Amino acid sequence: MRLRLHMNESPYPPPPLVSELVSRYAGLLNLYEVEELEEQLLDELSAYAGVERENLDLYAGSSEALLVMLALAKALGLEVVVAHPTFFLVYELARSLGVRLVPVRLRGPEFSLEGEELLKAAGGRLVYLANPNNPTGNIVLRDGDLLARLAKRARMVFLDEAYYEFSGVTFKDAAVELGNVVVLRSLSKAFCLAGARIGYTISSVRAKELLARLRPGYEVSLLSQAAALGALRSMDYVRSVVRRIVEVREWLRKELLKLGAPTPESSTNFVLARLEQPCDAVSRALEEEGILVTCLGRWFEELSHHVRVTVGRREDMEAFLRALEAALRKA
Ligand SMILES: Cc1ncc(COP(=O)(O)O)c(C=O)c1O
Repeated sequence: MRLRLHMNESPYPPPPLVSELVSRYAGLLNLYEVEELEEQLLDELSAYAGVERENLDLYAGSSEALLVMLALAKALGLEVVVAHPTFFLVYELARSLGVRLVPVRLRGPEFSLEGEELLKAAGGRLVYLANPNNPTGNIVLRDGDLLARLAKRARMVFLDEAYYEFSGVTFKDAAVELGNVVVLRSLSKAFCLAGARIGYTISSVRAKELLARLRPGYEVSLLSQAAALGALRSMDYVRSVVRRIVEVREWLRKELLKLGAPTPESSTNFVLARLEQPCDAVSRALEEEGILVTCLGRWFEELSHHVRVTVGRREDMEAFLRALEAALRKA
């Protein structure tokens, strides 16, 4: 199997309880919903996230929530302000739906977001910030006062916290209190459930209901719900996965620096490495060795020398570094 370092998946399998619960609920797949399962999941998610059940909604991955955000922009005829560069899917969906994005450029080697520039752009629009951001890996918003001012100016603010378990930074309380702020979370990363397609939002009830009108319903399959319940009941496992990934990430950053490929600080399960040469030839050479990374030059002109690399197991990253060293010599 190829070494998949291009989609920010977890290198670890889901916790064992996941398959046990998935098998238990498989026999009920003749039904659209199993109330008792959803109730338990929302209860446990509410305890985990530290918000009331009414402030939660389940989604088929945070990607579904992004689609709904852009469908809302389309329905209301609004533009969407984004920190640029950000998650590629937002550009793709916006293009397909004919929604105009208004980029606020991240600045300098640390990819910082200028608060005043963001506020200026936000008036009457939707705002999307991935926090921490993908592909840069950093926290772009830390200041709760800035968020409060942003929420006053913008129609709605979407904060994508897909990597929350790695960053520890959240605006979930603001999402509940401010009314027009929606936090997006994913179980794809720290919870090792990318293939189960499950995530959730934290928001006011009003925002949740507004978004729900754009959804067909029952998108989150019973099996995904069962998987999520199994993962939430395995928090020791999840925490140890996060701990291991963070440890390997920091070691990897040092090793990349030795190879002349510096990385800005990351609050995620991936790093953004700047190479001396354009990323194309390097990522192709890695692919020939069965190692997949993301060459960002394909997406963003300003990141033509950057690769995004998911942090895997230590031994996988050793293999990656060996292949990278050879690829850099060749390119
Ligand atoms: C910032 C960000 N948001 C959302 C997603 C998608 O997550 P999900 O698997 O929950 O759809 C990703 C996945 O890489 C991401 O990086």
